[in-house]
Amino acid sequence: MFYPYLIQSEDEYRRHYRQSVEDPEGFWSGVASHFHWRKKWDQVLNWNFEEPRVEWFVNGKLNITENCLDRHIKEGNGDVPALIWEPNDPKEPHRVLTYRDLLQQVNLFAEVLRIQGVRKGDRICIYMGMIPELAVAILAAARIGAVHSVIFGGFSAQSIADRVDDAGAEYIVTCDGAHRGSKEIPLKPVIDEAFAHCREVKKVIVFQRTGAEVFMKPGRDVWWHDEMRKVEYSGQMQVDAEEMDAEDMLFILYTSGSTGKPKGVVHTCGGYMVWAAYTFVNVFQYQSGEIHFCTADIGWITGHSYILYGPLCAGASSLMYEGVPTWPDAGRLWDIVKKHKVNILYTAPTAIRSLMSFGLEPIKDKDFSSLRMLGSVGEPINEEAWRWFYENIGQSNIPIVDTWWQTETGGIMISNLAGVTPHRPGWATLPLPGVQPVLLDDHGREVLSKDEDGLYKGNLCIKAPWPGILRTTYGDHERCRLNYFERFAGMYFTGDGAMRDEHGNFRITGRVDDVLNVSGHRIGTAELENAINMHHAVVESAVVGYPHDVKGQGIYAYVICADVVEDHHARRQEISVTVSKMIGSIARPDKIQFVQGLPKTRSGKIMRRILRKIAEGETDNVGDTTTLLDPLIVEEIRLNRIF
Ligand code: WT7
Repeated sequence: MFYPYLIQSEDEYRRHYRQSVEDPEGFWSGVASHFHWRKKWDQVLNWNFEEPRVEWFVNGKLNITENCLDRHIKEGNGDVPALIWEPNDPKEPHRVLTYRDLLQQVNLFAEVLRIQGVRKGDRICIYMGMIPELAVAILAAARIGAVHSVIFGGFSAQSIADRVDDAGAEYIVTCDGAHRGSKEIPLKPVIDEAFAHCREVKKVIVFQRTGAEVFMKPGRDVWWHDEMRKVEYSGQMQVDAEEMDAEDMLFILYTSGSTGKPKGVVHTCGGYMVWAAYTFVNVFQYQSGEIHFCTADIGWITGHSYILYGPLCAGASSLMYEGVPTWPDAGRLWDIVKKHKVNILYTAPTAIRSLMSFGLEPIKDKDFSSLRMLGSVGEPINEEAWRWFYENIGQSNIPIVDTWWQTETGGIMISNLAGVTPHRPGWATLPLPGVQPVLLDDHGREVLSKDEDGLYKGNLCIKAPWPGILRTTYGDHERCRLNYFERFAGMYFTGDGAMRDEHGNFRITGRVDDVLNVSGHRIGTAELENAINMHHAVVESAVVGYPHDVKGQGIYAYVICADVVEDHHARRQEISVTVSKMIGSIARPDKIQFVQGLPKTRSGKIMRRILRKIAEGETDNVGDTTTLLDPLIVEEIRLNRIF
C-alpha cells in the first residue's frame, strides 16, 4: 500500500506541521480523503473547548471496518497477513489470519451478534485474553455499529461490574479463561461473579480457549463456536457493514483519573480512524510487507490503536502475542522477533527494565537483524533503559521512537518519526502535525522564560483539537469538561508536566495530578484509597508513588486501622486481597505502612507532598510542616517508614 500522507524528511515534517497549524481544515481534509467514506463530510471541523464540543468530518459516513478490511481486499491485498498470532505456549502452532480470513471471521461474528439481538449503538463489554477472537469481536462490534468497551483481562469482578453498569452494556463477550505465562487465568467465572455486583446482561458469548469447565446459564450464556457454526451452516449472512456517522461512538475505554471511579473515554468513528492510521504510518514509517509487533494488551488504548485500528487501516501485518515477555524465559520476545522476522517492536519501559534485570544471557545468540526500529510508550523512559534497548536490541544502529500520548488522545501526540526526525534518550521530541502543545504555569500563563538549565517547564496543555481527541466521558459530559477543559481555560489539560527546549523538543516529566503510573498503567490514588478503605478494619488511607526500578512507580500506602494491628504481614495480605477484588492485582500496593494519623492541614487536606518525600526515602527534609494540624505525626511516620 502507498501512503500519500507519509512524511519522508525532516523538511517535509516542518512543512506539514506548519500547514496543519495554519490551515487545519485543509490539512486534515487532505489526509482524510485517502480513506474510504460512504459519504464525504460537509465540514471538516467544528469545535469549542469551553463546552467542550469537538466534531470532525461533520456528516461524513463510513464504517471503520471497511477501511480496516474490505478496502485492502478490493485493492488485491486479501492474502496479506492482517494478524499474526503467537500463542502463549511456544509449542502451540501460531496462526496467521490474512485480510480475507479476518473479514470472513468478522462477518460471521457480526452476524452472530445481530442474531443475539445486538443493534447499532448498543454497548458490548469484551473481556478476553489476547487471542485473534478478541480482534474479531471488536471489529464485529464496529461492523454493526455497536460500541465496544474492552476490559483488560486483569481487572476484577467489581471493576467489570462498574463498567457494565456505567456503560449500560447488555452484551458481554468473554472466554472460559486465558493463558498467560505459566498461569491459567479464569475469565468467565469472573464475569459470573461480576453479576453479583451489577445488573445482569442479556447475553454472554463465551469463546473456548483453555477448556476449563465453566458455568453456562441457559438462555443467557452461549458458546462462540456453536453460534458461529450455526451462521456458517445457514449460509444466510446479512453482513453489510452499518453506515456510521463520523461522530457516532466507536468505543469506550475506561481509565483512572484523579477523582472517583474510572471514566469512560469515548472515541468516535471518523476522527479516531484518521488519527490512528495517520500516526501509525508516520511515527513507525511503516512500509508495505513489514511485520509490526506491539507488545501491549488490547485492553489498553495502545492495543486498540497500534495492534488493531492503526495497522489494519494501513493494511499492515500486525503481530499479536498472547503471553508475557518472561515466559518460558526472558528471551521469549527475542525468539518471537526472530521467528516472525519482526521489523517494528513497540513496547513499554517497564518491560525493557524487567528484561534488563535478567542480564545479557537471554539475549546472547539472538537474531535481531530483522528489526528496523524500536518504540517505547506508557511512561517516561529513563536513560539507562533507553541505552540498553538501543545498544542490545537495536545493535546501536536503528531509531527508537519515544511516543507520548494518552487514552484520551486516541493516538500518538509527541514523538520523533523513525529515521526521519532524530531520536534523543528521554525525550519524546516533536509534536505530530495537528498537535499544538503549550506549557502553562499553575496560574494558567504560558511559560515564556527558561529555567536555569535553559528549559521551559510547565503543565502540558494542547491548544486546539486533533482528530483523535476524546469527545466525552460516557454518560457524563460535565465530568469530561471538569477533568480536561476546566483547569486551564480554553485548553485540553493532559495531567502531565513537561519541559521544552529552545528547538521545540518536549520531554515529559510525568503526572502532575494524583494519578500514578505503575508499569505504564494509570492508577488514580483516590480510586485506590477507596479500594483500601473497603477493608473492614481500615479507617483512612493515603496512597503515593515512589521510584521503582522495574515498575517506574511503586505504590506506597499509608493506612490507619481502627484496631491495633498485631500481625502486620497478615493485615497487609488482607488489604492486598481487598484491592485485588475491588480493582485488580495491578493496583496492589508494594508497601503498606500502618500509621496512627496522616499529615493534614487545618482544613483537613492530606499533605501528600510530605508522604511522597517519606516514601521516596527523603526523610531528613520533608519540607515545611508548620501548617500541619499535628506536626508530630510526621515524626512517627518517618520513624516507621518501610524500606
Ligand atoms: C499517561 C497516559 C498512551 C498509551 C499508554 C498509556 C504517560 C505515556 C509516555 C511517554 C512519558 C508517557 C503519561 C500519560 N505516558 N507515554 N512516551 N513518555 N510519559 O496510556 O493509560 O492513558 O496513560 O502515560 O503520564 O499521561 P494511559
